[in-house]
Amino acid sequence: MHTEKIPAREGNHNLQDYEKMRKTFSWDDMKKNFSWNETGKVNMAYEAIDRHAENPDTKDKIALHYSSPDREESLTFDDLKKSSNQFANVLKKYNVEKGERIFLFLPRSPEFYAAFLGILKVGAIAGPLFEAFMEQAVRDRLQDSEASMLITTPDLLERVPQDDLPDLKKIVLVGDSKETSDKYIDYDKEMKDASTDFEMEWVDLEDGMVIHYTSGSTGKPKGVYHVHNAMIQHYATAEWVLDLKKDDVYWCTADPGWVTGTSYGIFAPWLYGVTNVVRGGRFSPDAWYGTLDKYNVTVWYTAPTALRKLVSAGSEIPKKHDLSSLRHIMSVGEPLNPEVVSWGLEAFDLRIHDTWWMTETGAQLIVNIPSMEIRSGSMGKPLPGIEASIVDNEGNELPPNQMGNLAIKKGWPSMMRKIWKRPEKFESYFINGWYVSGDSAYKDEDGYFWFQGRLDDVINTSGERVGPFEVESKLIEHEAVAEAGVIGKPDPERGEIIKAFITLNDGYKESDELLEEIRQFIKTGLSAHAAPRELEVKDSIPKTRSGKIMRRLLKSWELGLPTGDTSTLEE
Ligand code: WT7
Repeated sequence: MHTEKIPAREGNHNLQDYEKMRKTFSWDDMKKNFSWNETGKVNMAYEAIDRHAENPDTKDKIALHYSSPDREESLTFDDLKKSSNQFANVLKKYNVEKGERIFLFLPRSPEFYAAFLGILKVGAIAGPLFEAFMEQAVRDRLQDSEASMLITTPDLLERVPQDDLPDLKKIVLVGDSKETSDKYIDYDKEMKDASTDFEMEWVDLEDGMVIHYTSGSTGKPKGVYHVHNAMIQHYATAEWVLDLKKDDVYWCTADPGWVTGTSYGIFAPWLYGVTNVVRGGRFSPDAWYGTLDKYNVTVWYTAPTALRKLVSAGSEIPKKHDLSSLRHIMSVGEPLNPEVVSWGLEAFDLRIHDTWWMTETGAQLIVNIPSMEIRSGSMGKPLPGIEASIVDNEGNELPPNQMGNLAIKKGWPSMMRKIWKRPEKFESYFINGWYVSGDSAYKDEDGYFWFQGRLDDVINTSGERVGPFEVESKLIEHEAVAEAGVIGKPDPERGEIIKAFITLNDGYKESDELLEEIRQFIKTGLSAHAAPRELEVKDSIPKTRSGKIMRRLLKSWELGLPTGDTSTLEE
């Protein structure tokens, strides 16, 4: 096997006695870290921001270092308390009530964080959208969630199909706009008039906090619903996995449109009272190394796809920057290649710690921590308090080294509480008391978990989860496309790329222009990351007799693999 064993890191780490903690830890032990443990008053925004703002020792500590190509700002916990209070007052003024879904379609910016926290402060549910979403992606999410308010910019407003969104009562616009109707609320103006004092809406630990839409292999994106109780696990993992100390400067590169950008770009570092770096703008190796250097980042959470890009950018760029403050690196979202881990040892003289979890799990579950030996290529071991296993399709546990479904015993603190409006979908995740992840994996004799692939057709391209059905549905909206089948095709840098097979309607002939036009149609209609990098015209798309597209067969053809059982193939 290719397994390189990298010894535990020396030094003073937050979780030293992993094996003992696995046996003795109970989630109740974590509750003592929260003010509600004594006061009974619960709100994530209070624990993450106001608590530090009310403490004279941390009031003026930098909570957020924000930088983008055209703007830089540093805000203290007190600043963030005040701006989120102001936004909460704006929401109250427009009668937003507890439990309403308020969506954010905004670039990463100080306004985003003030608004997001303000939504939590009134007890509403925040729905962050990725700013690269195009009309269809925005429509699906706002329709399904019946969002009553949206916070966006005048530019992004063009991608909001308001006629299709009867529940959307108000739109807050961040930036200058010519809109005059009273449907629109001017962010700057309202914030200027709003008080910086706000009476927090106390909630129940089981009340809704955030909805993240994510893709499965069939159907529209589903709304994964998380509650305030998740903070228990965000705090625990901030301590154990992020290994945070009070003086750390922490940078999570994920956009808050994905769960990593909320759980680990907002909640975990701020629950722990740590300075958080946020970078807007696009990826570039220079800008990224520059960010590590400029803010003296000590703890860094990023993704394999970005690390692979840094590897290809070469070893000259990092030499221009002082990266000596960096002490701890983690990765999430796709398999972390052993080659990248080896590169990390050379480039940073640091181990890169893989972590495994999903939108549905709300927080990290299987991890590599500093005091643990890393087996390069393995996702690591379950956290204290987490029972993970490999099960068969009936939910029976399998012995070591046997491949099966990666599953987690139901009941960890940050687990999703529902799929919005789709109870049957929610139930379908659970078999025999196990949450079944859809990933195939095995566990070795020493308890390390090894990722093998997805069991369904979900595509992971550059760490972004794409449902083939969404792309297929959009493809057939194009007038030239009759049928479409979409698969993930292995790619050294992106993990997978999206490949689409299509058949053309009568009267259309294959040409480079037409294929490019179809690609653009997806890019501008759905989102850039969902646009197929490869498009192939076929005479027919293989389907089962019941009409289901046989993506597995398309994939086998594409990769030159045996086609397996084709007994259900339509003649
Ligand atoms: C899927 C979940 C919440 C993290 C961001 C992605 C894949 C995630 C790893 C890893 C191999 C991984 C899995 C999982 N994945 N982490 N460390 N190694 N694969 O969240 O969009 O909900 O995607 O990402 O396939 O099921 P997501």
